[in-house]
Amino acid sequence: MGPDALAQVLREIKKYFPAQQHPELLVGLDVSDDAAVYKINEEIAVIQTIDFFTPVVDDPYDYGAIAAANAMSDVYAMGGEVVLALNVCGFPKDLPKEIIADILRGGAEKVVEAGGVLVGGHTVDDKEPKYGLSVMGRVHPDKVLTKGGAKPGDALLLTKPLGVGIITTAAKGDAAETDHIKAAIESMKHLNKDAAQIIQKIGVNACTDVTGFALLGHAYEMAERSGVQFRFSYESIPFHDGARKYAEERLFPGGACKNQDCFEKSVTFSSSISKEMRTLLFTPETSGGLLFAVDADKCEEMLSEFKSKNLPVWHIAKVRQGEGIVVD
Ligand code: CO
Ligand code: CO
Ligand code: CO
Repeated sequence: MGPDALAQVLREIKKYFPAQQHPELLVGLDVSDDAAVYKINEEIAVIQTIDFFTPVVDDPYDYGAIAAANAMSDVYAMGGEVVLALNVCGFPKDLPKEIIADILRGGAEKVVEAGGVLVGGHTVDDKEPKYGLSVMGRVHPDKVLTKGGAKPGDALLLTKPLGVGIITTAAKGDAAETDHIKAAIESMKHLNKDAAQIIQKIGVNACTDVTGFALLGHAYEMAERSGVQFRFSYESIPFHDGARKYAEERLFPGGACKNQDCFEKSVTFSSSISKEMRTLLFTPETSGGLLFAVDADKCEEMLSEFKSKNLPVWHIAKVRQGEGIVVD
């Protein structure tokens, strides 16, 4: 669903669960973060999330792996580790069993890599395949990371390049180069696990992952929850090879316009940024990187820790007083 429509529907449900009646609920519907967090005791809080979608790539194994990495990413965005996962499946009656097995194998191997356990699931008949996971994670109640908490002066960092959404859309129209598709698939399959561990070790003020609402939608949510402004330097934003080319060819998925309609009023672009590049920053991502705000004086340590683990990270924005998003 588009962000506006989703907010409208959720308003109806929220009123049944007033936050003050559930003190153990550390993160619930009223703040709409990446996942719910429920405190069990002083040492343990559980994280609960679910994500599933229709195929984003042709290969069934890759599709399963990407859907699983994407679902588990919300646990990492909350600062947690993966414990249990359940398959959520909708498959056409005539879909060959070998293909279903490949999808589930892709998902299962990602859960193993995450250090979690896959314990079952549920399948229904569906015209178009759908796959994903319901995931339970754990985190220390004092170490929960949310979208709120970024402070003026912080540095904003991102751990994966952007553009997998436009590349997979171009691929569906047979308009994408093989190398670009390959790199996008590897990026989407990559777990945010190691990045999340570094982030927890060094400590950050706010965190989310970049998925359906695109860089600017998720960044806006963070800025808004934190009561600050994010100032991006366009030149420092990383893109996968091919992403800007397909944007110039206007191969955007439908979700890009929905996001742009919803978030554009909160974003001020430098006049030097083209219409196509603006829309690219509103284009949905799948299984994107972690986006987090770190104290300015810890930024160098963070960058070198990522470097020493051979993990990519980019410093893409500064947190300032004010509101909304500026892209220079
Ligand atoms: Co998320
Ligand atoms: Co989420
Ligand atoms: Co999610």
